[in-house]
Amino acid sequence: MADETRKATLIIGNENYDLPIYSPTEGPDVIDIRKLYGQAGVFTYDPGFTSTASCDSTITFIDGDEGVLTHRGYPIDQLASKSHYLEVCYLLLYGELPTAAELEKFEDTITHHTMIHEQMHNFFRGFRRDAHPMATMVGVVGAMSAFYHDSTDISDPHQREIASHRLIAKMPTIAAMAYKYSIGQPFVYPRNDLDYAANFLHMCFAVPAAEYVVDPILARAMDRIFTLHADHEQNASTSTVRLASSSGANPFACIAAGIACLWGPAHGGANQACLEMLKEIGSVDRIPEFIARAKDKNDPFRLMGFGHRVYKNFDPRAKVMKQSADEVLDLLGVENNPILQVAKELEKQALADPYFADKKLFPNVDFYSGIILEAMGFPTSMFTPVFAVSRTVGWISQWKEQLADPQMKIGRPRQLYRGHKQRDYRDIETR
Ligand code: SDX
Repeated sequence: MADETRKATLIIGNENYDLPIYSPTEGPDVIDIRKLYGQAGVFTYDPGFTSTASCDSTITFIDGDEGVLTHRGYPIDQLASKSHYLEVCYLLLYGELPTAAELEKFEDTITHHTMIHEQMHNFFRGFRRDAHPMATMVGVVGAMSAFYHDSTDISDPHQREIASHRLIAKMPTIAAMAYKYSIGQPFVYPRNDLDYAANFLHMCFAVPAAEYVVDPILARAMDRIFTLHADHEQNASTSTVRLASSSGANPFACIAAGIACLWGPAHGGANQACLEMLKEIGSVDRIPEFIARAKDKNDPFRLMGFGHRVYKNFDPRAKVMKQSADEVLDLLGVENNPILQVAKELEKQALADPYFADKKLFPNVDFYSGIILEAMGFPTSMFTPVFAVSRTVGWISQWKEQLADPQMKIGRPRQLYRGHKQRDYRDIETR
């Protein structure tokens, strides 16, 4: 850790405690409090970790005030327009953009890991048909640790590499199978002649009874959605994966934990919740009613797809997603989609409202993604599985980085205890 000359001094009572300050490549300085409890006998208190850096990372940087998101230094808008998902996967995993030969080898490796063990098909049949696909994905991904024993030893770099490739390659297959199972259609096997995004669309929408040709513009839009969701610093699900991994859990169990966390409506589940909200609003004349509810402290309703823990400006992904929504809906001849009109008018009215401006609440990545996914033919229940497919590479990249960190130790936060002082057991007769 460089730059240990700078110090912050904490004064508690008559004691001074010097704490090292570290300077990042970008972003705020950090104060190293690792020795604070040992020196001063106090904990810091930061529920929700709003002011806490949990790790030292080189993967993704976010500037919430400026609306900046970079992966290994490359801005997300450039990656979304010039790159493609598997190339971004390589960048996140290995730190540099690949050469043509490196990319070809990586894409070939991923392509040839897309099938899952045939016996895993039986897991799906244990679920009700109306199970949420995220429930199925948590179960099936966790079960991968029962099938791929040759890539669960996290101390073996070769096994870590295979597990990484298997998860990135098989997540679309598992998500598509969860969807097919939920609609009672047969599973569609992956095809090696299709690229990552086209393969996913084919596995979701092809049926044995007819040939399904993937529209290249929809495949490009799908690939862009994957790219925009790939990684996002230490968000809730990534932090979940890191914490699970810190105990030495196998990669499949860690990613299953990340999927479970992502499912929440405050996190990756917001894309489903946002489209359901837009449908509930239904028409632009009902927007004021919902904005009033979002502002009402006594009403738990929040505008789904709005606000962010870090972005206090536009989420740069939302800007790209909004452009993509216009393109896809134009292509599909649904540019007058009433839900898109409600979304655009809601964004306009909310951004003009002092409540949202003062609290720096802007559309986030989930605000427009659902509109595109629905136009592509996905039910709302598949929106968060799509997010999970994309974010797998981010979880895996952060998982690999943590395992390679010599400072890594099991994550074990403490607490501010405000329960009872110690007291003696009372027999039931005396209660
Ligand atoms: C993702 O962390 C990541 O990077 C996540 C993510 C990723 O790529 O991994 O970017 C993906 O999860 C995006 C966020 C998706 N979630 C939603 O769209 C759900 C709606 N948004 C909110 O629930 C909320 O904005 C959060 C959860 C996203 C952020 O919440 P914070 O940072 O804890 O902020 P907060 O709840 O303390 O809100 C600050 C204030 C509050 O008012 P006060 O108590 O200060 O008076 O803003 C209000 C909130 O009531 N507020 C909202 C609001 N979001 C916050 N009011 C109305 N509508 C909203 N959407």
